[in-house]
Amino acid sequence: MKAMEDQVVQEELGYQDDEESFFQDIDLLQKHGIEPGFLTAFEYSEKRKMVFHVSTGSQEFDKLLGGGIESMAITEAFGEFRTGKTQLSHTLCVTAQLPGTNGYTGGKIIFIDTENTFRPDRLRDIADRFNVDHEAVLDNVLYARAYTSEHQMELLDYVAAKFHEEAGIFKLLVQDFYKLTVLRISVPVFFHYNYLPSMITMQIIDSIMALFRVDFSGRGELAERQQKLAQMLSRLQKISEEYNVAVFVTNQMTADPGATMTFQADPKKPIGGHILAHASTTRISLRKGRGELRIAKIYDSPEMPENEATFAITAGGIGDAKE
Ligand code: GTP
Ligand code: MG
Repeated sequence: MKAMEDQVVQEELGYQDDEESFFQDIDLLQKHGIEPGFLTAFEYSEKRKMVFHVSTGSQEFDKLLGGGIESMAITEAFGEFRTGKTQLSHTLCVTAQLPGTNGYTGGKIIFIDTENTFRPDRLRDIADRFNVDHEAVLDNVLYARAYTSEHQMELLDYVAAKFHEEAGIFKLLVQDFYKLTVLRISVPVFFHYNYLPSMITMQIIDSIMALFRVDFSGRGELAERQQKLAQMLSRLQKISEEYNVAVFVTNQMTADPGATMTFQADPKKPIGGHILAHASTTRISLRKGRGELRIAKIYDSPEMPENEATFAITAGGIGDAKE
């Protein structure tokens, strides 16, 4: 039944899939303020200096992404079931807390779960791999289950408020923070967790489209769905840029009705249409390899070439494939 409904929505998408709808969608995004005001190139480059990357847990995968999941951007991973989207989301909950490259000191995570597949026990396994304290790791993940697409949106309002609030706290903590940064060099990593400024640096939504798919499954509801989706993505984009947050969303795929006509090699495509395609800064497609192996491919990125990387789903989360 669900597949049928998807087909209906997808058919409408296929119908819409022309130049005119492309520009309509861009208009929609702009109406929701997705396009920020002007900055000088210098200001923009100064702002970009704050960008950090969160490790996926696999060096190969990180390399593919130019260091990991980028802040001030929305990264979308899509793929069929069991390709590792949820496992990657769990791994990021731990790696985002660890100090990284370019002075990234680690931070807290907000996790919005639309499919009820978040498992704190998984975080414990992953924490073990990185040799960090379970309680500290779990304490730094703010978890919420979203039940409807509307609820998902409300949670984002809460998130925005939280960032606002914590931005204030962060400013107050700047001095202590400096001292801690100096301290950090000589003591083990996990020692700091309780002292980290209450700064949220990563937001994960697993998965972004699941509830939209259920709530707007009927014929004729596609336009409304895309409108709501644009609203949500514009909010996510603002959060990522204003508060220097790495936003990671997972997405599902569905059969592309046009594929048989065009002899595409991959007859499936991510859902969400132009809206999601344009709002995501980097899109990663995931597919299965042998056993624990998975292959990630850059689908759409302003900077990275369309390369591939092989990684593994291990007991300790996402890791490198063993030769
Ligand atoms: P959907 O949400 O169904 O679309 O799939 P997904 O892409 O989110 O897949 P998920 O991340 O849940 O990956 C599931 C895969 O991870 C399965 O192949 C599991 O065997 C593997 N997996 C889950 N837990 C573990 C674990 O503890 N150890 C290992 N080695 N693999 C695991
Ligand atoms: Mg999943």
